[in-house]
Amino acid sequence: MAILKIARMGHPVLLRRADPVEDPTAPEIRRLIDDMIETMIDAGGVGLAAPQVHVSLRLFVFRLPTAPMDQKSVAPDDRLAGETGPGPGPHVLINPEVVPLGPEMALGWEGCLSIPGLQAAVPRHASIRYIGLGWEGERIERVAEGRHGVIVQHENDHLDGVLYTMRMSDFSLMGFNEEVARFQPMLPPGS
Ligand code: NI
Repeated sequence: MAILKIARMGHPVLLRRADPVEDPTAPEIRRLIDDMIETMIDAGGVGLAAPQVHVSLRLFVFRLPTAPMDQKSVAPDDRLAGETGPGPGPHVLINPEVVPLGPEMALGWEGCLSIPGLQAAVPRHASIRYIGLGWEGERIERVAEGRHGVIVQHENDHLDGVLYTMRMSDFSLMGFNEEVARFQPMLPPGS
């Protein structure tokens, strides 16, 4: 496994539409996924899309941490009491499609490993359905809300060349992490 270099905002790879993964179970895709998970954890992120590591393919990894952020492996059923969903992960989604469930939007704070040090409040669909392929090429279909839904929408946007800054509605709600933590009202945490 290897830690990959993360593209930062301004690099054109972050602005192009990524190509579908033709063979989700190919060894080079498995290696890429392993490296992306290692890179995401090393960087302290909760999601990482392939274009962020200069690979313009439609896949991303994410996690839904209920445990300390530096914990590298978690049992699949280790989730918060009463929480529904897929568990903390790490999760992989290949060739995903995201469909909003209804018109409701919610504002939450998000960061991005390609926009280091900053975060912003971004409107996202409150509820989505997503489909895609997993580790073994198996079909995944889930409904996601809250932080889970925000992370999937954020990462899926990377596959279309969209950064969270392009989704913002109020540019006064953006700042450096430390200042936001000190001065902004607590909105639900984003990704
Ligand atoms: Ni991002």
